[in-house]
Amino acid sequence: MNPQKVRNGPNFMQQVNKKKHVDCALSSNSDSSDDEVEEIVAVKKDVQKQRFSVSAEAYGQFNKKENFKAKFIPKSKEQSERIKQRMQAGFMFSALNEKEIEIVVGAMEEKIFHKSEYVIKQGEEGNVLYVVDTGELDCFKNYGKGDVFLKTYYPGESFGELALLFQSPRAASIIVKSDQAILWQLDRETFNLIVKEASIKKRQQFETFLENWDLLKEIKDPYDKLKMSDALFEKQFKKGDVILQQGQKSTEIFILEQGRVSVNKNNQKLFELVKFGDYFGDQSIVAGTVESFSYVAEEDMKVMYIPKKSYSSTLKEIESTLMKNIQIKYGKYI
Ligand code: CMP
Repeated sequence: MNPQKVRNGPNFMQQVNKKKHVDCALSSNSDSSDDEVEEIVAVKKDVQKQRFSVSAEAYGQFNKKENFKAKFIPKSKEQSERIKQRMQAGFMFSALNEKEIEIVVGAMEEKIFHKSEYVIKQGEEGNVLYVVDTGELDCFKNYGKGDVFLKTYYPGESFGELALLFQSPRAASIIVKSDQAILWQLDRETFNLIVKEASIKKRQQFETFLENWDLLKEIKDPYDKLKMSDALFEKQFKKGDVILQQGQKSTEIFILEQGRVSVNKNNQKLFELVKFGDYFGDQSIVAGTVESFSYVAEEDMKVMYIPKKSYSSTLKEIESTLMKNIQIKYGKYI
């Protein structure tokens, strides 16, 4: 069902206009519409601004953090466990430690919405973020010519963080698609003091990598690229470590930033992966088969990875390219 026309508040347009003409390293996609460019400029500029302000907030306001008394809404043990499960399924909270997770779970408030109800309206002010417990919700964005469908949110995913991260009006609308949706709502203050810092740090950590990874050129939505950093992690390997064993099913897609990884079949070295952005583990995650090769670290190195659970919300969009690449990369050796 098409939602009614979404209101674009004047503040939102003022803010977007103010953010024009700023250099934008992330906008490598030349097909982007002006709106997309403006949007990414806005997001990027805000991320840069946050570099200072987040650390200022984190450290300058240390006392505030020390004295911060998080909202606490009593819940059954079962509810708390369910929230934790949902938080683990997504990546918004992946950088939190156990204590921080407890605080966030305590502050969450259950909200029930019904079919076709707006949870978020583009252009409005936003003070909370949501984690989906049950149900499905559609996200639409009005770039000026009516609503464009962007994606469906499923249990475990979260949305509504941009307004909190960048103190901007809501950048899209979210409407309930299923008969009912149960959401967990997190307030701005707990988000700012507990989640925001970790989330921004994570986005900065992988920003350069994501800007330069060729594979992502097909992902049109700048927001999706920015969000991908939440799903990226790093693992350290020593020279000679088997990163992935032939015959196994991988639980991650590994991505090379630097270093050398040999590709071996039946203990025979076939070739080496040495290029920035080379990846493996895709046979398991993308094609659903076992790995035909072993991958061995040829030097002490860090390897990035995207866990299997994040595949559908990150790389699935370019699955046909990934499938083609499997043929190109491994076809002659299988
Ligand atoms: P927020 O701007 O607070 O409210 C709308 C939410 O929609 C936004 O945060 C994001 O969580 C989500 N969203 C999903 N896709 C996009 C997109 N392409 N651009 C902006 N927001 C998006």
